[in-house]
Amino acid sequence: MVGDLGTAAVQLAKYLGAKVTAVCSTRNLGLVRALGADEVIDYTRKDFTKGTETYDFIYDTVGKSSFNACKPVLKDNGQYLCPVLGLPLLLQMMKTNISGGKKAVFAATGLRSDEELRDMLAELIEIYAAGKLKMVIDRQYPLEKVAEAHTYIAAGRKKGNVVITSAE
Ligand SMILES: NC(=O)c1ccc[n+]([C@@H]2O[C@H](COP(=O)([O-])OP(=O)(O)OC[C@H]3O[C@@H](n4cnc5c(N)ncnc54)[C@H](OP(=O)(O)O)[C@@H]3O)[C@@H](O)[C@H]2O)c1
Repeated sequence: MVGDLGTAAVQLAKYLGAKVTAVCSTRNLGLVRALGADEVIDYTRKDFTKGTETYDFIYDTVGKSSFNACKPVLKDNGQYLCPVLGLPLLLQMMKTNISGGKKAVFAATGLRSDEELRDMLAELIEIYAAGKLKMVIDRQYPLEKVAEAHTYIAAGRKKGNVVITSAE
């Protein structure tokens, strides 16, 4: 989960008072702890969906899990959120919308209204200005190397954000 969404989600969840358990690979354990996670699970050693701990929310920021796999470790009325939309998630959303209880949710800010987004952005700026949200920057590329940047991002291993710089 140590992409753009995951590094922000850990910090925002902590800011909102949640107890956060993060899932990442061995090389990112230190980074995730530094961002404030209370517990960290190394997915190369342990499958969090097979554990005994249960969660109110599971935010799968990289779409590597699924609602069905996470269901056993979701609390009653818990939510599985994912920003990566595929057919399985769509079907689970439709099903869990009707059935009640544990829910599958497509988490996409792009689905919100302009007004909601403006309010969220204003709050985010306040949190950032208060020093409670740090941007994790992995690499920077000049504009003419944007294709190289895309190749790096598409490999799925970036930590936080990749920045494109422009001379102007
Ligand atoms: N719907 C929307 O509004 C929306 C908005 C923004 C992004 N997205 C989508 O959300 C996804 C996440 O984007 P992103 O930029 O935050 O991250 P990303 O760059 O896609 O994720 C990279 C990170 O994922 C980690 N990772 C890979 N496999 C993992 C696993 N099985 N468990 C835990 N972590 C794993 C990698 O760490 P290791 O190399 O250490 O494994 C790496 O640090 C993308 O598919 C993007 O297209 C959707």
